[in-house]
Amino acid sequence: MIEGRRVCAGWFVANQNLFLSIARLVYCFDFHSVPGAPIPIGRPLPMSSATAPFQVKITVRSPEHEALIRRESASAVIQ
Ligand code: HEM
Repeated sequence: MIEGRRVCAGWFVANQNLFLSIARLVYCFDFHSVPGAPIPIGRPLPMSSATAPFQVKITVRSPEHEALIRRESASAVIQ
């Protein structure tokens, strides 16, 4: 994104948003592989979102984390 014919004007915005989003997901949720459906490693993920690249079970880490998510979500709503 830094190199190429045109420089992406939103690189830093996108980078910071991705960092914050991924950090929040990792902080609030547990990610488990699904029995019988191993997560493939050693090859790049497809660039398309048309098909899910693998199955994963995602659960909220605790009731306190759920309360945090609900509180933050409520305050993010535009009234
Ligand atoms: C993960 C997110 C993003 C990706 C993968 C991405 C990717 C790209 C790519 C590949 C280009 C074209 C570069 C080239 O022509 O060689 C581009 C251009 C551009 N991007 Fe992004 N971008 C992202 C986020 C953003 C965001 C958040 C903004 C604005 C807030 C933005 C604004 C722009 C603009 C204005 C251009 C055109 C720059 C120019 O032609 O002078 N991008 N982006």
